[in-house]
Amino acid sequence: MSNRYAVILAAGQGTRMKSKLYKVLHPVCGKPMVQHVVDQIEKLNIQEIVTIIGHGAEAVQLQLGEKSKYAFQEKQLGTAHAVMQAKEALDGKEGVTIVVCGDTPLIKAETIDALFKHHQEMSAKATVLTAVIDDPTGYGRIIRNKDGLVEKIVEHKDATEAERAVNEINTGTYCFDNRALFESLEHVSNENVQGEYYLPDVIEILKKQGEVVTAYKTEDFQETLGVNDRIALAEAEQIMRTRINKSHMKNGVSLIDPSNTYIDADVEIGQDTIIYPGTIIKGKTVIGEDCRIGPNTEIDSCHVGNVTVIRQSVAHQSSIGSHVNIGPFAHIRPASNIHDEVKVGNFVEIKKAEFGKGSKASHLSYIGDAEVGSNVNIGCGSITVNYDGKNKFLTKIEDDVFVGCNSNLVAPVIIGKGSYIAAGSTITKNVPSDALSIARARQVNKENYVQKLNLKK
Ligand code: UD1
Ligand code: CA
Repeated sequence: MSNRYAVILAAGQGTRMKSKLYKVLHPVCGKPMVQHVVDQIEKLNIQEIVTIIGHGAEAVQLQLGEKSKYAFQEKQLGTAHAVMQAKEALDGKEGVTIVVCGDTPLIKAETIDALFKHHQEMSAKATVLTAVIDDPTGYGRIIRNKDGLVEKIVEHKDATEAERAVNEINTGTYCFDNRALFESLEHVSNENVQGEYYLPDVIEILKKQGEVVTAYKTEDFQETLGVNDRIALAEAEQIMRTRINKSHMKNGVSLIDPSNTYIDADVEIGQDTIIYPGTIIKGKTVIGEDCRIGPNTEIDSCHVGNVTVIRQSVAHQSSIGSHVNIGPFAHIRPASNIHDEVKVGNFVEIKKAEFGKGSKASHLSYIGDAEVGSNVNIGCGSITVNYDGKNKFLTKIEDDVFVGCNSNLVAPVIIGKGSYIAAGSTITKNVPSDALSIARARQVNKENYVQKLNLKK
């Protein structure tokens, strides 16, 4: 197999997106478009990936990191000019260079691989990936001669009426003989409606030189969607979402209503887990087997064990163990570590806290900046008082503690192992192990006082 290189075009501003965010960084199912492209390219045994950056260069570089080399395109003079910027990295090298746009997030590695194979079988100097679509508006059209061979590509804006009627389009993905690519780029001009140097012009240039130029038509036209505006972005999101949901179902995950289930690209879910409608699972969340998630639940970047139930709740950047029962209406905020067999009930908020095995906060609690041991019971309405308006303090609740209802644990404070806090207490001092702590005013009953005040009519 010959050497393979890849050039990813990602320097454009994306004017049609009307956005402060650079186009290729717009997420599709939680992952920036250009990252989707690079993730697919990476599967293809490529020696070198060069990403062309310009608008938002730093942000794109930060996103892709070490996976790619970078070439800077100072002015966006067109796609041919963009590829030229990779000259320093690739010029003179023997092999095949694939060019992909950073705004085609649905493209699959298998399709690019098939394109490669076709390119090699045909001993071509250039092969363009094409698709036949119902509405080709905006795309470059594939113009074939009477023998059906590719002659050239005409951009929508430059096309005649007859050319616009062609519905075979340029997907923006190509294979080139690397040397032939950089030689012919020298001959691309910008004499066209947009005054840009068009990469597709390379096809006509090579053809005129008598080189073999071919097209590989993919059946999966959805894959080739180029995202130029928010309408296409939503379309891409929907296609990607369907793809992701199907792959989870194929792996043994039940989705009660796939059309109302939103799972990001890098989420992992174990077998026999059931996802109920209205659920959004984001980031690099990992969910184990036999869980029940949802309805109407948002989980972002969490690790969830097996046989855990999370209903109508929100959990962010936290770890949740196995056999845990969360919700309805619980809020797990970042840096929480919920151990196995825990119960977190309705209207309970947990933030930056360890919550030990078998412990329970069943109703109406706030547990923030805390270390809660195992088998602790937090009574209804009890809270950690972690903030004095300036600083946050730690509450430590050791194993087997029973916190009575409606208690305030004023941090910093340690509640010793096995101790009891009487309901309604405001605890400001450490409680020794096995003690009963009562910190509330004593009740006084004044007999017949009501009559004395003559309040009763
Ligand atoms: C391009 C193709 C068109 C094809 C379509 C497929 C050209 C001239 N046209 O059109 O034939 O049907 O893709 O989606 O190539 N970019 C740069 N530097 C530049 C210009 C663009 O890096 O100077 C990048 C953009 O960031 C983008 C990609 O190249 O990721 C494609 O550019 P875009 O302006 O979206 O091209 P289209 O008009 O969609
Ligand atoms: Ca585009």
